[in-house]
Parts: sequence; structure tokens; C-alpha cells
Amino acid sequence: MKAMIVTYGCQMNEYDTHLVQSQLVSFGADIVDSVDVADFVLLNTCAIRGKPVEKVRSLLGDLRKIRARRPLVIGMMGCLAQLEEGQQMARKFGVDILLGPGSLLDIGKALESNERFWGLAFRDELHDHVPPAPAGQLQAHLTIMRGCDHHCTYCIVPTTRGPQVSRHPDDILRELDSLLVAGVQEVTLLGQNVNAYGVDQGARVGGYPSFANLLRLVGRSGVRRVKFTTSHPMNFTEDVAAAMADTPAICEYVHLPVQSGSSRVLRRMAREYTREDYLRHVADIRKHLPHAVLATDIIVGFPGETEEDFQDTLSLYDEVGFDSAYMFAYSPRPGTPSYKHFDDLPREVKTERLERLIARQKEWSARKNAAKVGTIQELLLRGEAHDSGFLEGHTRGNHPTVVPKAVGVTGPGVHLARIEHATPHMMYATLVDSAGNALPELPKLNPEAAALTSPLAMA
Ligand code: 5AD
Ligand code: SF4
Repeated sequence: MKAMIVTYGCQMNEYDTHLVQSQLVSFGADIVDSVDVADFVLLNTCAIRGKPVEKVRSLLGDLRKIRARRPLVIGMMGCLAQLEEGQQMARKFGVDILLGPGSLLDIGKALESNERFWGLAFRDELHDHVPPAPAGQLQAHLTIMRGCDHHCTYCIVPTTRGPQVSRHPDDILRELDSLLVAGVQEVTLLGQNVNAYGVDQGARVGGYPSFANLLRLVGRSGVRRVKFTTSHPMNFTEDVAAAMADTPAICEYVHLPVQSGSSRVLRRMAREYTREDYLRHVADIRKHLPHAVLATDIIVGFPGETEEDFQDTLSLYDEVGFDSAYMFAYSPRPGTPSYKHFDDLPREVKTERLERLIARQKEWSARKNAAKVGTIQELLLRGEAHDSGFLEGHTRGNHPTVVPKAVGVTGPGVHLARIEHATPHMMYATLVDSAGNALPELPKLNPEAAALTSPLAMA
């Protein structure tokens, strides 16, 4: 079987894609990256906003056309698969296999079945399952919990991913070990709300560590860099900031979604904190980590958001001075409380506010990134950039960065670099040694000699 998985949505979905892919490989499948050669196409879907849902609808339409000409098994997994909206689509387009986020390990059963297979249960085995480490990668995700116990009124995730279940620390450490053996240098701990890790299991014998202590455990395992995402401000404790400060492997990067700067809107979103609470968390983080890189998520145009509320979001942005932000116009999702109870604002109002917020974010990212020029940063280089003379990677603070290759550094690895130039979205650096001296540049090829030895010249 030649199988292809197309992934939409967040890092949780990327992790799940890897998990299912490794199951498919264990059944003897070849993983391919073109629909043209695949005989099984599995869409790992996202339902957080209308856009990713529409993308899946259009791809299902294309796949149905292909299947009219030749045999093709069509599958759908992920958040949309768990919703009536996705199941209606699946019926319409004749999806053969449908797996909700809790049923991924049913993939084997689904492939053996001769009939349409739909798995929608939340299975406990998923929490103990340790997928094999990804081959040849310096970066990996590690899911520490699934689901979410909050009920933000705009969010579909509690419906699609169910209540929060934390993985047992032994399973997490076992998976971490296998990543370390495989050579992984940066591990990102994943969950919808990692700060609430263990809260759901608090009463169980054996006890679960708090998230701060889990961070310390993971950070002292020998892994070079640890990141985590994402955090709900309601569950953010000062001890997490303290753990970041006392454990050098934990990167000084915090993604703390605020969603709005207006306490009135936050209340309608059922976020369970105020603007002032959020600012206190930021102060705690800065107290322990003065150089922390701060990123956030913001929704503009939530139902009932006035111009004054939106001004509160802009002023909060200035007060915190975020390094970066993921910004969204509110998208009504059937099945969420805000969809049922509140009227959507006109599209023009949402778009116009989003544009103003993006402009503000660009100013801040430009300022924050410019302040890094001249500093030495540790880069995790993933591989070649678009231009093959360069490598691309990111800092401990998650800044995308490119560097020219140098003698001894022509592929993936972790290296020091000096930031030479910055834009709001990209930093440009040169590789340096531990004393801060630039590494020697690669010798320039003589263009005439290169032409003589090129395969075209030989032909
Ligand atoms: N509309 C727009 N953005 C949303 N998000 C979640 N639900 C919605 C919605 N209905 C955003 C939040 C969240 C991020 C993953 O997506 O900002 O943090
Ligand atoms: Fe999309 Fe949220 Fe599901 Fe991730 S958890 S795939 S962002 S709906």
C-alpha cells in the first residue's frame, strides 16, 4: 500500500500524523508525498475555524474525482472527523475510513475492514502508546496530554478532543528516551493546556508531578532544548517561570494566548481571567526570565466586541510588547456556545480590526527583532534554505533565522550565530565559534571550473 497523509491544523495534529504514519509503516505501507501515486489518502483535519474546514471539503471533492478514474481509499482523521459537520462531509464524499482524535490506533482495524469504518471513541491505549522516534530529525513533538477541560465559548476543541487526560510521566519519559537515542536535540511538549498537566489525575495513586516539575524532569534528562505549547493563563503558575529559570535546557520562550485585552470580552469568552490577571502572569515571567520571548494568540471581532474593547487589545499589546502573535478574525463554529448565543460581527469590521492589529504586531516584532542584532544566539539548523548557500533554523526564542553555510557547517545541527540583520519575520545571522569569532566562509567555487565539472558540461 502507498499511503499519504495530508495534515492541517496545529502541532498536535502533526504529532498525530507521525503516530498514524508510524502505524502504517509497521503494517508495511510505503509513505508517499504525492496523491498521484497514493492508493490511500488520509486527511488529518482541523476544525478550529471555517477556513481549514473548507480546505478539507475542496480536497475531498478532488479526491472523489480521482476515485472516479481509479481505485483509491479515502480517509479522514483529526478534529473535523469528530464533528457532525465532518461526518456529513464524509458521507457526501464517500469517505471510507473516519477516525476521531481519540481513535487513531484503530487505523489497523480500519484498513482490515472491508466496509466503511468509522471510529469515534476516545481510547485509553492512546495515552500509553509510544510512537517510534522520527528518523533523522533534530526536532520532535511529545504529547503530554490530550483534550481540554476549559470551555471557551468560541472554541470547538473541547468537543473534538474531549476532556483533558494527562499521560503518565513514565510514558512521557520513555518516549523522551527514545527521542534522545534517535539524536533529537529539541523537544516540544504538547497539549491544549500543558500548564494543567496532571490536574485531571491529581487523586490517582502514584501522583502526577505538576507541570513545572515535569518541565524540570524533562529539562534534566540530557535533552538540549525543551519548549512547550500551549498554555492557558488561568493555569499558569509562577513556578513554571521559576522552573524555566532554574533549568537551562528549557528555552526562554513562552506562548501564552491572551485572546483579548478587554476584560469584558474575556468574560464573554469564558476565559476565566481578566486583563490584570494576564499582566500579572507576564510580570511573573519577566521577574524570573527578564529576556523571555513572549508570543500570544489573539482573536479580533469576537461577537459584541466594540471599538473600545479592540482598543484595549491594542493597548495590552503595547503594554506587554509581545515578540510575536498569531492573530485571527473570529470564525463562528457550529456547536460552540458563542455560535448559538451571539451574533457574528460584519466581516468588514473583523477584517479591518485584524489589519490594524497585524500592523501593530509588525511594529513590535520589528522593534524586538532589531534589539537582537549583534547578539549571539543558539540556532537549531534544520537544513538548507531556499537558497542552497544558506541554512535555515530557529533560535531558542523561536525566531526563524537564516545563515550562510560555513566551513564545517553545511547541514543540520545546533550552532552559535551572530544576528546581523532582522525584519519582523526573519533574522539573518552568521555562524560563530564559542568565542564569538565568525567561522570561515565556504571557499567560493570558480564559476569556470564549476561549469566544466557540472553534469551538464560533461553531457
Ligand atoms: N475563531 C477564530 N479563532 C479561533 N481560535 C480558536 N477558536 C477560534 C474561532 N472560533 C484561535 C485561538 C486559539 C488558536 C489556536 O485559534 O486564538 O488560541
Ligand atoms: Fe485544529 Fe484545534 Fe484540532 Fe489542533 S486541536 S487540529 S488547532 S481544531
